[in-house]
Amino acid sequence: MKKTDKSNILALLRNSEDYVSGQQMCERFAVTRTAVWKVINQLKEEGYQIESVSGKGYRLTEGTEDILSQSEIISRLATKWAGKKVYYFDVTGSTNTDAKRFAEEGEPHGTIVVADIQNAGKGRRGRKWQTLSGTALSFTMLLRPDFAPDKASMITLVMALSVAEAVEEVAKVPAMIKWPNDIVLNKKKLCGMLTEMTMTPEMDEIQYIVVGAGINVNNSNVEEFQEEIRQTATSLKIETGRQVNRAILLEKVLEKFEKNYDAFLETLDLSNLQKAYQEHLQGVGAQVKVLDPAGEYVGISRGINGRGELIVEKEDGERVQVYAGEVSVRGLYGYV
Ligand code: BTN
Repeated sequence: MKKTDKSNILALLRNSEDYVSGQQMCERFAVTRTAVWKVINQLKEEGYQIESVSGKGYRLTEGTEDILSQSEIISRLATKWAGKKVYYFDVTGSTNTDAKRFAEEGEPHGTIVVADIQNAGKGRRGRKWQTLSGTALSFTMLLRPDFAPDKASMITLVMALSVAEAVEEVAKVPAMIKWPNDIVLNKKKLCGMLTEMTMTPEMDEIQYIVVGAGINVNNSNVEEFQEEIRQTATSLKIETGRQVNRAILLEKVLEKFEKNYDAFLETLDLSNLQKAYQEHLQGVGAQVKVLDPAGEYVGISRGINGRGELIVEKEDGERVQVYAGEVSVRGLYGYV
């Protein structure tokens, strides 16, 4: 990840309790006074409230709690490869579509695309995923793995665990996973994920994978969701009453994902992550309905195996290993 002058200056201002002089910035980042002045003006244009006092310098003041921008994201990242390159858009169609385009253009493993508004966001099974300004954390990560295509479905579970852990740490709430990859809070959907894989022309290797996640963060009430999901969706703000800084949440998700993905690569299955995933898994020991196109059935969820499949114990004691793919699982009386 390349820190820009802008993200460096932003991080310095954020981390300083006192004023930072223009001279200090010039020396620290080996830039000219004009460059510093330009950056300060750009940051002000992006919405940062920066006080300047002659003889003292610059200071970041209150009122910039949830600015999502490229420099805000880069200034917070401390990862090795996750977020290696950051694309940020105030408005886009779909970050997954953008990430696939960037992949075709040769962008590296770990590139992320983040957007405030998505006006053609994609959900699973061809559904739409609407994102209003200032509400969601919508992002997609580009991966260029060299493992076999049959391992790819586990990546969404790795992201699900990472989002659950990050939400828990940042918002201090018990985020759970509805197998395989929805994040739920108080039994309502907080985050959905969409993973798309592109194969090489020979169709024998993965060319790249994009993993997109949409976390409902600062939606104030359910009216801000599409009508079809109002009964089942929630946001961090609705559940906690508190506003959450999306850049801080993203920073935490990337930190967790980098660690969990590397743990996954060690074994190319979920054995290193199974325990943590299971601790976050909603409804272990409860009855679930498996909506298999070949026929629905009811059973008891017994958690996941090392390949990320859900083990469901049927009434006759038979244990079925449910592969994510086309199958979805519901609670007996609703969404979870
Ligand atoms: C679902 O639960 O149906 C999946 C929703 C996935 C939404 C995210 S938002 C960021 C990324 N870009 C998209 O177009 N979709 C995913």
